[in-house]
Amino acid sequence: MSSGTEQGEAGAVGADGQTLTVTDNRTGRSYELPITDGTIRGIDLRQIKVSEDDFGLMSYDPAFMNTASCRSAITFIDGDKGILEYRGYPIEQLAEHSSYLEVAYLLIHGELPSREQLDAWSHEITIHTFVHENVKRFMQGFRHDAHPMGMLLGAVGALSTFYPDAKEIRDPLSRHIQTIRLIAKLPTLAAFSFRHMRGQPYVYPVNDLSYAGNFLSMMYKMTELRYEPDPRLERALDILFILHADHEQNCSTSAVRSVGSSGVDPYSAVAAGIGALYGPLHGGANEAVLRMLRRIESRENIPAFIAGVKNGTELLMGFGHRVYKNYDPRAKIIKKATEDVFEVTGRNPLLDIAVELEQIALEDEYFVSRRLYPNVDFYSGLIYEALGLPVEMFPVMFAIGRTSGWIAQWLEMVDDPDLKIARPRQIYTGPRTRRYVDIADR
Ligand code: SDX
Repeated sequence: MSSGTEQGEAGAVGADGQTLTVTDNRTGRSYELPITDGTIRGIDLRQIKVSEDDFGLMSYDPAFMNTASCRSAITFIDGDKGILEYRGYPIEQLAEHSSYLEVAYLLIHGELPSREQLDAWSHEITIHTFVHENVKRFMQGFRHDAHPMGMLLGAVGALSTFYPDAKEIRDPLSRHIQTIRLIAKLPTLAAFSFRHMRGQPYVYPVNDLSYAGNFLSMMYKMTELRYEPDPRLERALDILFILHADHEQNCSTSAVRSVGSSGVDPYSAVAAGIGALYGPLHGGANEAVLRMLRRIESRENIPAFIAGVKNGTELLMGFGHRVYKNYDPRAKIIKKATEDVFEVTGRNPLLDIAVELEQIALEDEYFVSRRLYPNVDFYSGLIYEALGLPVEMFPVMFAIGRTSGWIAQWLEMVDDPDLKIARPRQIYTGPRTRRYVDIADR
């Protein structure tokens, strides 16, 4: 930590060998703050005081717009250039050449697996896709019209009671088996919530289908002896899971890290992530996009809707991003995947509205000046709808893919030497030391 002096004597120098000199005009004192990785440590502001008993300065950063909460080697995003890389591999290459389970391995272990490693990884996940029968009974207790994201939230949290060993977060073996269980069981719980909505019997996993194929089987198998997934839909789903796998410190991942920093088990931390993802400004946006497109209904209504966005009565769901101020690279890949899916399912007329909406927004000053581009949620819902999913299932699909990212981030956090329980400060704006008044005198 640097020391503050009248003349700003040399303080600690950051790993970059650089420092920031600040002068407090309230006292005339100068301070040299070390700069490391393009940041200053927030705690270094506390030395800037007006008197010895002064608490010292804090930074005020609602929504953490300009605050790095951790050091991470998992996902790199360049919002201006529209770049997304998992462990350094561009998302375009992974979407084209990889599989979701291989990407999950990459995110969690940091390297692409060998053939033997991938086979072992896939086998371990395959043999953990069942859930305890009591989990099924627990899910059957939800209302017939329960939102599947609420069911998933509850079911994943409930898994923490079925695997009490998950509390041993310092035990690498426990961390490994919980990692396997979460990746393996999310599709099962997701499919169970879908079948619950339909009032249909739950379908158990099968071991000789792919990760996406088994999910489709648990979703759509009826009286046939064996469900045969269409390989084109299987591939489209696998790509969607890859694209949703991780996205550095987004709202839900921050929730996983914040809750996880208390030392709780990974099921409870992931359940917190599901809760954050449920929101319409985050993972719930794909559901909101479909509702928006259906509400617009025809291309003739687009100008009136755009006017509504400009006067603040509408939000163009699926557009805009805290980090991307350019086209979300995932949106480009998904837009291309819609054509492959529509070959099988038939073209969704809402795609024409979405494409025209995008075209208008990309040329309109309101959106251009705010650097609003389609994000991952703008086109994904069209594929999910083409697969016959109700809009309520769209954020659930997001959660399946993001589970490997949440776990990778949780594992990285657990081993982070900087790890402390997350506990932000505040600016207190309320009254002080008031005298209690008896109710008779109020
Ligand atoms: C995801 O963080 C991640 O990485 C998330 C995610 C991931 O993979 O984890 O990428 C997934 O959540 C994608 C985002 C999905 N959400 C939506 O599509 C909902 C619609 N988008 C907006 O709600 C908004 O763009 C956010 C929430 C995504 C980002 O909001 P910010 O960063 O807080 O930006 P902002 O609200 O300050 O917007 C800046 C300006 C404002 O206008 P002014 O007040 O300056 O006049 O842009 C406007 C906003 O009103 N604006 C929009 C808009 N998004 C921002 N105006 C119309 N439609 C929109 N969608």
